[in-house]
Amino acid sequence: MIKISPSILSADFVRLADEIKAAEDAGAHMLHIDVMDGHFVPNINIGPAVVESIKKVTKLPLDVHLMIDDHDRYLRDFISAGSDMLTVHLEAAVHLHRSIQVIREAGVTAGVSINPATPVTSLSEILHDADMVLIMSVNPGFGGQEFIPGTLGKLRQLRKMISDGGHSVAVEVDGGINPANAKEVADAGADILVMGSAFFRSGDYNATMKKVNAVLGNA
Ligand code: DX5
Ligand code: ZN
Repeated sequence: MIKISPSILSADFVRLADEIKAAEDAGAHMLHIDVMDGHFVPNINIGPAVVESIKKVTKLPLDVHLMIDDHDRYLRDFISAGSDMLTVHLEAAVHLHRSIQVIREAGVTAGVSINPATPVTSLSEILHDADMVLIMSVNPGFGGQEFIPGTLGKLRQLRKMISDGGHSVAVEVDGGINPANAKEVADAGADILVMGSAFFRSGDYNATMKKVNAVLGNA
């Protein structure tokens, strides 16, 4: 089954608990939480305190995507806030292997993300250690951007690297995904699809989940 991780970046923050409950009721498989610092990406949003509050109102696994410089300084805060999956950017990392170890040793699923201009070959030495790779299909920082088509080739190449190396690593794709392109992205090699604006701006979360589950062939 291909999993859907709605990104709260496009939710109504004033009604965040209700938005999360509605996503859970609609059958979302996890909840994607984007964390931006105004340095690594040109936007600022939430920190560990908000993750901790979200943890109290949902049973969904929290899929936390750090788009921040110096992530090592904050890993423990996001782990204790209740992250179930914690992803750092390769481009922001100095000692990526160590960051992944810290996350894994805490019993949290460790992800590594790459930007659209970063080649998948740069992941070759970390695939053995990471639990998940997050391929950005837009330039990180904002919701509602268009899916970059070149991502599909990167996904196929990544899938081959994973199978050739016998690695056990999940592939998540983030940015510009909607019910119309979800199947193509899944077929290229995604296990988890992030959906921000196409979910939270859809008006009817049940209908959106139903539609995307149907195109993906999810039972
Ligand atoms: C972009 C974020 C995404 C974003 C996706 O920087 O990492 O998770 O919320 O939003 P959509 O699905 O609208 O592209
Ligand atoms: Zn994200």
